[in-house]
Amino acid sequence: MPENNIIIFASGAGSNAQQIINYFKKDKKINVALIVCNNPKAGVLQIAANEQIPVLLIQKDRFNETGYLPEIKKYNPNLVVLAGFLWKIPKILIRHFPEKIINIHPALLPDYGGKGMYGNAVHTAVINAKEKESGITIHFVDDIYDHGKIIFQAKCNLDENETAESLAHKIHKLEHQYYPITIDKLLHGSK
Ligand code: GAR
Repeated sequence: MPENNIIIFASGAGSNAQQIINYFKKDKKINVALIVCNNPKAGVLQIAANEQIPVLLIQKDRFNETGYLPEIKKYNPNLVVLAGFLWKIPKILIRHFPEKIINIHPALLPDYGGKGMYGNAVHTAVINAKEKESGITIHFVDDIYDHGKIIFQAKCNLDENETAESLAHKIHKLEHQYYPITIDKLLHGSK
């Protein structure tokens, strides 16, 4: 029996979800128990099907009212991992899972966060501001978008002719490298 259950929330392609699944496949103590998704067309649903991981497809009104707490509680999560999830997490979930919900943001918070700051919108804002560097931030989720306590950050440089696509590629590499390890550390204590 796995001792730790992870639930992944994702809205898009799910490349981070895939990396996390791959990383924990050989770990008998950690199990990706459920994928929660708000988008019936998201690529992450194919990943869930391939990996035979159950999916909870959610609707906005009910999510905001109930957080799908009864459904989520059934999987007894030790950690809820947001991996490219678009909707704000309702208070009911944050209260129920204090410091157990984490997010990855594709920039160096506290800059370039907040509502609407998702995926390429973030990279475009960073490039337009002529920043020399960007990076990733892994943080606990609280009531405010992209605001909770920072757990980990890693940086990358911007090239002169950087595009949102090329920056997204660099950021994804960092995310894939560090998100699974950070989750592992949180669940096992510092290794
Ligand atoms: C990731 O880059 C993640 O940091 C970002 O969405 C992408 C999802 O990619 N999240 C946010 O922008 C949250 N504000 P993926 O679906 O391939 O994992």
